[in-house]
Amino acid sequence: MRIPKGGVFFFDSGIGGLSVLAECKNRLPNATFYYYGDNARAPYGNLPRGQIERYVFEIFERFERLQPSAAVIACNTVTALCIESLRKKYPFPMIGVEPAVFSAAKDGGEIFVLATRATCESERFRSLCARAAEKYSNALLRPFACEGLAGTIEKRWNDHDFDYSALFPQGKPDSVVLGCTHYVFIKKRIGEFYGCPTYDGNAGIANRLHNFVDNLPNPLYGLNCGEPVSVEERGTLRREKRPLPATVLLEAPVYFLGEQKEQNRYVFEQTFAKSGNKRG
Ligand code: DGL
Repeated sequence: MRIPKGGVFFFDSGIGGLSVLAECKNRLPNATFYYYGDNARAPYGNLPRGQIERYVFEIFERFERLQPSAAVIACNTVTALCIESLRKKYPFPMIGVEPAVFSAAKDGGEIFVLATRATCESERFRSLCARAAEKYSNALLRPFACEGLAGTIEKRWNDHDFDYSALFPQGKPDSVVLGCTHYVFIKKRIGEFYGCPTYDGNAGIANRLHNFVDNLPNPLYGLNCGEPVSVEERGTLRREKRPLPATVLLEAPVYFLGEQKEQNRYVFEQTFAKSGNKRG
């Protein structure tokens, strides 16, 4: 299959980023998206920082040839640990996922922030929580490293009877922030377990990607499902603001990449099919 260049590259340790992809796909149905999940080496959340960085840079090197217009780091752990160094190395914009602590904190109360160990221990996450706590002094943010939760979801995503409750921290929070994209797969169950609102950052990511696309000189150029064009031609099209090819009106496919592409396509179709969101 010929993969057009210039789409948006989505990356996660495994299936978690599919929830981000689904939100972005709904918002920008005719943009070209690639998805790579490193499922065979997931979960990342308990690995040492150096190992996570090694995996991530190895993957970006592999897919750089697609000349992405942007990358969505659809993983809180990788955003927390690697986004700054990725931004230094690659010329395209990087949109990262971060726990939606500001959205939850504005209503105050006790807020559980569920994330991987690597995210919880990262400087970026600590500073995010400190800023939210400073802005909303009536909010008490309580981060929890949920050992084993992302890995279990990676394996059990299709087992709707599986009982996750032993993996959830105990307590009666006023709201819960899902600080790992894998947790969005069981958002409904987490909400039912705690009986309170749950927050994830996926809509925020879709907004940011949408704004980014809108601000391109030729908005859908390079993100459509038409023929790939050269870098030179791309410059000319942008300068001249030529009409978009008719093919942009068609819904673009998602290009699943790598060894686990069929698995990720299957999970995506089963979980986020348009005929109804089956997340539970
Ligand atoms: N989905 C990821 C996140 O948002 C990583 C989970 C993992 O691999 O441990 O943090």
